[in-house]
Amino acid sequence: MKVFLTGATGFVGMEVMARLLERGDEVVALVRAPDAQAAQGRLDEVLGKLWKDPSPYRAGASAIVGDVTSERLGLDGGLPEVDAVVHCAASIEFSLPLEEARAINVEGTRRMVEAVRSARVKRFVHVSTAYVAGQTSGRFGEDQLDIGQTFRNTYEQTKRESEEIVATSGLGAAIARPSIVVGESTSGWTPVFNVLYWPLNAFKRGLFDEVPVLLEARVDVVPVDYVADGIVALVDRSDEGVFNLVASEQASTVTELVELACRRFDRPPPKLIDPAAEGGGAGAKHGAVYLPYFDMELVFDDSRTRELLGIQPPRFRDYFGVLMDYADLAKWGKRGFARDEANERALSAAS
Ligand SMILES: NC(=O)c1ccc[n+]([C@@H]2O[C@H](COP(=O)([O-])OP(=O)(O)OC[C@H]3O[C@@H](n4cnc5c(N)ncnc54)[C@H](OP(=O)(O)O)[C@@H]3O)[C@@H](O)[C@H]2O)c1
Repeated sequence: MKVFLTGATGFVGMEVMARLLERGDEVVALVRAPDAQAAQGRLDEVLGKLWKDPSPYRAGASAIVGDVTSERLGLDGGLPEVDAVVHCAASIEFSLPLEEARAINVEGTRRMVEAVRSARVKRFVHVSTAYVAGQTSGRFGEDQLDIGQTFRNTYEQTKRESEEIVATSGLGAAIARPSIVVGESTSGWTPVFNVLYWPLNAFKRGLFDEVPVLLEARVDVVPVDYVADGIVALVDRSDEGVFNLVASEQASTVTELVELACRRFDRPPPKLIDPAAEGGGAGAKHGAVYLPYFDMELVFDDSRTRELLGIQPPRFRDYFGVLMDYADLAKWGKRGFARDEANERALSAAS
């Protein structure tokens, strides 16, 4: 199969690319760069993050220069002939001004949809987020999108807007909605240490005097291997509509996260304060953009995904130790290991 992939230089996209290449598919990646050589150079760098020796995969991975904010994605001749398109590219910054976030997430997705339509590609998988649910509570289903919700940030808002473009495109697209994505459950490997890693590292370093969270809030986290498995399964299927790639009922509560972190870092529990109150010390002020994700009373429903894809994520507490082992090994992002090396190390540590 030949797959056109956006966002291959990003966290989720590179794990998807790894799976496609490992099973023998061909990947054509849209990469932002000044010229073709630089684009291929960027993609080769990503292959080096995935494999100590990426040479067996080089022939299957080609880059084309493009940008989702450019007319026709910056591709003179339109999309190359491919069997499927996976659109992972987005800005995941929470604090981007609305119009900047829209230019990438909304208009970028509109251009992808137009390109897929013109090229008559049979399969289109759009990567959205479970947080299109915004600031709602209760259950949020795979059949729901616009329920009059408000949003924590421009990221959530623009991902909701982009999802609507795909859902109403008539292309029969599959929409994958992961929740908070962390490293691989098998090895802990991750090239980025944001959202969940940030407060954990701050707690480890004693930066949190007080934590403004709701104890019973659920923090829905999924490992990137589960997310990539789901996306690749969607490439192979023809079902349209939304697939929540989430922990759902199994999502950890803040209480459980705090217990896991206290045990791991051998620290006493932090003082927990009302999220609406001022406080949290230097740590909380610095990580303010992430804190709204620790006071949610929301369960993402994933019954359709479990039924149609037959997959289910591991429980966070079962791979939390693996994530933290890798975070320590990688010095919380100061150094990195290739994905296959991280897997080998995890295997040998377990045996
Ligand atoms: N990470 C999570 O926890 C999470 C959770 C739920 C959903 N998602 C979704 O998963 C997808 C991938 O997220 P991620 O975590 O992998 O993000 P990421 O690591 O920040 O990667 C973003 C990717 O998008 C590319 N990109 C950004 N702007 C672009 C543009 N104008 N034209 C072309 N490419 C552009 C980036 O390319 P450059 O390298 O050139 O910047 C990069 O490859 C997104 O759709 C996101 O909404 C992520």
